[in-house]
Amino acid sequence: MVDLKTMYMGLELKNPIIIGSSGLTSNLDSIKQMSKAGSSAVVLKSLFEEQIMMKVNQSMGDYNPFHGHTEMYDYQKYFEKQHILEEYLQLIKDAKKAVDIPIIASINCMSSAEWTKFAKDIERAGADALELNIFLLPSDPKMEGKDNENVYFDIIKKVTSEISIPISIKISHYFDNLANTLQRFSQTKIKGMVLFNRFYNTDIDIEKEELVGGNFYSTSDDMSNTLRWIGIMNGLVECDLCATTGIHNGKDAIKFLLAGASAVQMVSSIYINSADIIETSLREVKDWMEKHNYKSIDEFRGKLSKTSEMNTALYERVQFMKYFGTKKK
Ligand SMILES: Cc1cc2nc3c(=O)[nH]c(=O)nc-3n(C[C@H](O)[C@H](O)[C@H](O)COP(=O)(O)O)c2cc1C
Repeated sequence: MVDLKTMYMGLELKNPIIIGSSGLTSNLDSIKQMSKAGSSAVVLKSLFEEQIMMKVNQSMGDYNPFHGHTEMYDYQKYFEKQHILEEYLQLIKDAKKAVDIPIIASINCMSSAEWTKFAKDIERAGADALELNIFLLPSDPKMEGKDNENVYFDIIKKVTSEISIPISIKISHYFDNLANTLQRFSQTKIKGMVLFNRFYNTDIDIEKEELVGGNFYSTSDDMSNTLRWIGIMNGLVECDLCATTGIHNGKDAIKFLLAGASAVQMVSSIYINSADIIETSLREVKDWMEKHNYKSIDEFRGKLSKTSEMNTALYERVQFMKYFGTKKK
């Protein structure tokens, strides 16, 4: 009998497929549907730092909704945002009652401002963990790599000092020395790292001569950067690794487990295929484990990470030498 259980950030998950933060996890009905379809945890749709700051500023007397020329608009927006925070906490409470899988709250942030105190409310509402989606596009040439990194460390320090539920960071790969930075992040009090954030791709419409968004959903082809870095970082980090971007089926999930991930997150595939893909993917993982005589995920997790010398060469080969060396005309 094959056992799909896995540990992620100290949480026991019944299988490695988590639903990533998205519209799929923004309301109770959908969360119930994801749980029923077999997912082992959900990461709630993110609250944004700005949404929390609206409330913080108001309580500090800095925010006056009646000020300025767009009074009514601001006023309306202010109350909408107040409402959003309460709704978010209520969603955590309702989801905890409605399903028996871990509920991971999510905040999208880019500074360590006062919003960090809101993490306490999230913990009190009953969330099992908190995922911080931190993203600063290092597009300012005046900023040095370490300035960028310091923002991440400040956020981690502040939030980990507020709460005791496990915290993960969901990040991009835009760092000076990625392996070194990821390792140092893992040596803080975080319990997990979610690699890598996927952003709307940038494209240009040459007829309209304007910037447009690229593909909204990923494909399995988008996974390779994350797969490489999960494989490289397994064994080098002091927290769990979770994969996001391009995981569309059970075969994709197996690749990330072999590279060393504790769990994977799926989003695009569910939008494209429906929640039924969760069960199909879990079946694929089970069938593969049976075929390869594995009884538990721990028996093969990280088997193909960079830890062996042969794999080091493969993970670090960034050129197409082999391809061009053997390609026939
Ligand atoms: C419609 C949609 C909404 C999303 N909303 C969020 C969000 O609120 N917070 C977040 O951290 N990621 C968000 N994401 C990113 C996903 O969680 C995920 O990291 C990304 O889509 C890559 O995974 P995938 O290849 O399985 O789609 C969103 C993605 C989609 C497609």
